[in-house]
Amino acid sequence: MMTAASIPPDTAAVVGTGAMGRGIAQVLAQAGLRVLLCDAAPGAAGKAREAIAATLERLAAKGRIGPDAAREAAARLAVVEAIGELGPAQVVIEAIVENLEAKRGLLRAIEDIVAPTCILATNTSSLSVAAIAAACRLPGRVAGFHFFNPVPLMKVVEVVEGPLTEPAAALALVELAKRFGHAPVRCGDSPGFVVNHAGRGLVTEALRILSEGVAPFEEIDRILRDAAGFRMGPFELLDLTGLDVSQPVMESIYHQFYEEPRFRPSPLGAQRLAAGLLGRKSGRGFYTYPARPAQAETARTPAERPARVWVSRALPEFGAQAAQLVRSLGGRLDEGARPAPDSLCVVTPLGADATGCCAAEGLDATRVVALDMLFASGRRTLMTTPLTGAAARVAAHGLFASDGVPVSVIRDSAGFVAQRVVAHIVNVGCDIAQQAIAAPGDIDRAVTLGLGYPSGPLAMGDALGPARVAAILDAMHGIHRDPRYRPSPWLRRRALLGASLLTAEE
Ligand SMILES: NC(=O)c1ccc[n+]([C@@H]2O[C@H](COP(=O)([O-])OP(=O)(O)OC[C@H]3O[C@@H](n4cnc5c(N)ncnc54)[C@H](O)[C@@H]3O)[C@@H](O)[C@H]2O)c1
Repeated sequence: MMTAASIPPDTAAVVGTGAMGRGIAQVLAQAGLRVLLCDAAPGAAGKAREAIAATLERLAAKGRIGPDAAREAAARLAVVEAIGELGPAQVVIEAIVENLEAKRGLLRAIEDIVAPTCILATNTSSLSVAAIAAACRLPGRVAGFHFFNPVPLMKVVEVVEGPLTEPAAALALVELAKRFGHAPVRCGDSPGFVVNHAGRGLVTEALRILSEGVAPFEEIDRILRDAAGFRMGPFELLDLTGLDVSQPVMESIYHQFYEEPRFRPSPLGAQRLAAGLLGRKSGRGFYTYPARPAQAETARTPAERPARVWVSRALPEFGAQAAQLVRSLGGRLDEGARPAPDSLCVVTPLGADATGCCAAEGLDATRVVALDMLFASGRRTLMTTPLTGAAARVAAHGLFASDGVPVSVIRDSAGFVAQRVVAHIVNVGCDIAQQAIAAPGDIDRAVTLGLGYPSGPLAMGDALGPARVAAILDAMHGIHRDPRYRPSPWLRRRALLGASLLTAEE
């Protein structure tokens, strides 16, 4: 039975007028809809109306919108005291407390008041849309409409289709989102939907690198910002969101996917949450707030240089690039098939660690450093084996920083920092595509708009080359023997076929 209205709604209701409800009501009113505001707390809807009107006035004062537009939008907001007054609404969006029984009870009660064609949308972040819809008489008209905070600035909304949602209801929300200028992303009713699912890659892998003692958190942030292009490092991001929010989301998504190792949270997060190190809101997280003036990241660039540099040709392309770099930095290349006794030995792994490369070529570990040639612009990463001597480490640092490009020196890690984090993000994105939770282009759109990444996970994988990403994961999988790093079939097939990760099947 078709229940959703096919004509565009002119009256919407927002139930629950907290942080999210206010933002949703604002964008709806600005798009020309009449908006009924309703909240269970006495006076809350009225306060929300005043707050939205004040926001609109501020936008007009700054010249972002016209004064008439601000006045007219505010005039479209109407406070209703009880859900009994929601009859005229053609679409209801609930943004009440994140509690399944509360949402089920509310939507079921609203059904008795609104027309059978009224669409019922839930802004839930973590509950199953199906479980909410199942309480309704007409579950086909129930869909997720998942916004991000702050709603007017975060211009993406996930339109979530549960197994009972009728396509027409989802399509009506897609059209509605376009009216207020948000990018609608259609997705399945799966834990974390797209954005919160895709977002598991960056932070869980960064915590894992930290817990392996590979590098301090600030260094991991620097590498991911400078070499991989993220606007914020994962530890800055955790501090911004607050561990009281992030840790439960990490645990919930992990458990909802029945302990899928790709999403395994780190004990570090739980410990720090227990210690109250929440982030900005508590004054201390990974960093301390208010932030101290930027500190020089490392004391100095060493003046030492290696006498000669031998570069491994195990990966010919990276080897040739590394040799060229050594030359351009004025280093003396050792062109021998085997390194001379005084040569620094540079290996250029893809997904492997320095130790593995050293052992594979029978090199003297005390003189081996690994250089990340995949993420080599903006910042260079050097990695040591457990036996690399200080002299080799310092000389390599001095040489590779001599043109002013900053260098991070880290301990041995399968895939350095940037390779392993980016490969993990790409793999999680690929598996979202494999599970058909959303179309490939929509996955990338949701991630760039919802998480602010430089590009979506599939485009990120294409830029590196799917075969390389698969090789990184295979190497990491071999070293850790952890199914966390098994490549998604979506990635493996496209890597083997030389196809773009954005390729969907006909
Ligand atoms: N805050 C975010 O970043 C964010 C992002 C996306 C989705 N969400 C989801 O949006 C919803 C609301 O989140 P929020 O951050 O705006 O919460 P909030 O606490 O700021 O606001 C919730 C509002 O709902 C009202 N309310 C609670 N129970 C009610 C009921 N039974 N009937 C009517 N009103 C009721 C409360 O009085 C309050 O005004 C939750 O489902 C949350 O998971 C939040």
